[in-house]
Amino acid sequence: MTTVHDRLRVRRPLPRTSVPDTVRVAATALAPTIARGVLARRPAAVALAERFDADRRAGRLLRRLRTRYGSGPLRLRVPGRSLALVLSATDVERALTGTPTPFSAAAWEKQAALGQFEPNGVLASTGPERADRRRFNEDVLDTPETVHDLAESFATVVEEEAAILLGRVARTGGLAWPEFRIVWWRVIRRVVLGDAARDDSEVSDMLTRLRMHANWGPAWPRRDALRRRFRTRVQSYLDAAEPGSLAAAAARAPVTDRTDPADQMPQWLFAFEPAGMAAFRALGLLATHPEQAERAHAEAAEDGLDLPYLRACVQEAVRLWPTTLVLLRESTTETEWEDGVLPAGTGLIMLTPFLQRDEERLPYADVFTPRIWLDGTAQANWSLMPFSGGPAECPGRNLVLLVTSLFLARLLRSHEYRQAAGRSLAPDRPLPRTQSPFRLRLRARPWSATTSPWTSFAGP
Ligand code: HEM
Repeated sequence: MTTVHDRLRVRRPLPRTSVPDTVRVAATALAPTIARGVLARRPAAVALAERFDADRRAGRLLRRLRTRYGSGPLRLRVPGRSLALVLSATDVERALTGTPTPFSAAAWEKQAALGQFEPNGVLASTGPERADRRRFNEDVLDTPETVHDLAESFATVVEEEAAILLGRVARTGGLAWPEFRIVWWRVIRRVVLGDAARDDSEVSDMLTRLRMHANWGPAWPRRDALRRRFRTRVQSYLDAAEPGSLAAAAARAPVTDRTDPADQMPQWLFAFEPAGMAAFRALGLLATHPEQAERAHAEAAEDGLDLPYLRACVQEAVRLWPTTLVLLRESTTETEWEDGVLPAGTGLIMLTPFLQRDEERLPYADVFTPRIWLDGTAQANWSLMPFSGGPAECPGRNLVLLVTSLFLARLLRSHEYRQAAGRSLAPDRPLPRTQSPFRLRLRARPWSATTSPWTSFAGP
């Protein structure tokens, strides 16, 4: 039974940061996150963040604040907006499993940004529209299945495009993000829109421009003409419904007048780009970690669509360097927490680079440890949520892991890699908290199971 004392204790508002601490959070944790681009990365800002070790500094500050103010959520002193930082795995679990009520996924900031190019996307939707669009997304993306219904067709796409990339690797002896990105976007367009879209780089460019614009959130006027052109193009691929593509699956899936399939597709296209970054970073990790590389090569050599170790490597790459830097929720009612209450309408901010590298609580914080995704460790810890969790968890998770693991397998089957440039990655040193894929470069040489001990690599 709760006593009067308990009720008084619980109804106290949660602690709020002082003005100087709020300024520190804004300057050290929030500004570098926003500057890098929440919806599309700005390479110059990523380079700056890497140079100044932005995520390590932010982590240090947030741990200090957790010691000073308690485990949170920690309210920030921001005029005109109630905002709180989530600092513990327990509170992450509460916010993510409590979606959409009392924690809506359609926070105001998110709606403002996504409204620029997918106003009816599930991520920015609420109520019955959200339920309907979520069901549609899960149908098309085959959410619960590790191996998507169209996996054979995606594997062919990966095989063909990776072979072209490897042709280039053979000529130059190296691999960097610009050429990886071009090939990856062809994979994305073929998987999502169909083979006819393979060389339609204009559709990707239109979307990149809209995302760059949306990075500014409500501060920028909408680019309605560009959005209309982009949507018409996407709709044309949806109408064509090329067999073997997500467009075909979307054309087959049941819809209602709430679904708006063409507004769900931009998310599929744009979310696949960071998946390429994660795959490229995973290759960088394998290029520098012999033990894990050996296991990855062995799995790649087998024929198959389900590649658990490579999937774990990609998940570990997004844990170490999350591609979704911040998860947002908005409380729909007043909520009670261990140390006090939060008012309705509070924006809850979960900074993934901090939570997934919380060195006070995660013994493997700065170490490449794919094992945690295979033995249940990661699934049991709500601090690790590169694909979010609960009812709004990324419905594309399995699909992303399928396509990236197939792509990595193809690259590893015939070649091995070493790091040639970018922040140095090594098994005997803590991994950098910020790592720009734009500066990462790898050397490559042909590989077969019977040759090439790790130490004898003599690249070009
Ligand atoms: C590395 C790649 C990806 C990562 C790390 C990722 C991560 C995430 C995260 C963290 C969220 C949830 C945000 C929140 O809780 O507020 C999310 C939502 C979503 N993702 Fe992904 N995603 C990736 C790729 C994809 C792909 C390729 C697709 C589709 C083909 C996709 C489809 C979606 C959709 C539709 C949502 C909205 C779900 C909802 O609001 O119910 N994602 N993703």
